[in-house]
Amino acid sequence: MIETLKKHIAEVEKFTADNKEAVEAFRIKYLGKKGLLNEFFAEFKNVPNELKKEFGQTINQLKSAATEKVNALKAELENTSEEAGVYGDLTRPGEALELGARHPISIVKNQIIEIFSRIGFNVSEGPEIEDDWHNFTALNLPEYHPARDMQDTFFIQTDPDILLRTHTSSVQVRYMENNQPPIRTISPGRVYRNEAISARSHCFFHQVEGLYIDEDVSFADLKQTLQFFTQELFGKSKIRLRPSYFPFTEPSAEVDVYWGLETETDYKMTKGTGWLEIMGCGMVDPNVLDNCGIDSKKYSGFAFGMGIDRIALLLHQISDIRLLSENDVRFLEQFKSAL
Ligand code: DAH
Repeated sequence: MIETLKKHIAEVEKFTADNKEAVEAFRIKYLGKKGLLNEFFAEFKNVPNELKKEFGQTINQLKSAATEKVNALKAELENTSEEAGVYGDLTRPGEALELGARHPISIVKNQIIEIFSRIGFNVSEGPEIEDDWHNFTALNLPEYHPARDMQDTFFIQTDPDILLRTHTSSVQVRYMENNQPPIRTISPGRVYRNEAISARSHCFFHQVEGLYIDEDVSFADLKQTLQFFTQELFGKSKIRLRPSYFPFTEPSAEVDVYWGLETETDYKMTKGTGWLEIMGCGMVDPNVLDNCGIDSKKYSGFAFGMGIDRIALLLHQISDIRLLSENDVRFLEQFKSAL
């Protein structure tokens, strides 16, 4: 019996293979459940006591020889196939590609663009570094107008004529200067205000401006457009227009959407009222049309402006506006599944 074992050891040591199937067959023959080694182990009880020690040692030698041989052959085959420029182990699981995430501001901006594009609005853009005319004067805010203080402005160097735009309404002016009605455009972009940074406000944020100019455009058109928008973005079409003041619109209104008071979060978000303020709007002041080269006797229109950051915070239940500009990947990664 011990002789048989020794023959097997010699055989195992001599064994070579040039493919994985042969190695596997070899492994099964010796080390498999019904393999030779298990058979020999089962034989152990029949071996006379004085031979048990030698028999045991020899079986163990055979076992380690077979295990080593299998491992060595596997490693060798893997190396040669890679060296030979073959594909390696095609059964190995693939490596997952890291998926990027869109920024919540981009997600919401794209949703807004998509909703307005469905009712014929195009997208326009303007510069972030603006002059006084486009940011203020053309919008019915002449020098020394007290409403200029509503938006604390960053000026560039010492030139009071060059500034960082405080709102995207400046793009309205540029668009009207270069296009005649009918005009239907929305202008997304970044704006700047010299404000203290806190969880609620930042010195830069994002807005989308909307402008609709044609013959006979009325306040009813404005309300319907906004209702369509809030229905599409929030799934809610109950809105109210509160009288307000903006120098570039007359009349002007603040738009609130009825969010509801179903959950504790609704209470928190709406301060217990159920209403959320989402934008400013109004009928474009005839002075603004004339300033931009559009005949205010023939045309009328409406405009609106909303903050993207605020809407992103609302839709994604983000508690601090600063998270939007800190670029913390742990925060950003959470938006992988959103649009
Ligand atoms: N520009 C305003 C702001 O930044 C928002 C706004 C209000 C834009 C009314 C408009 C408008 O076009 O009609 O606060």
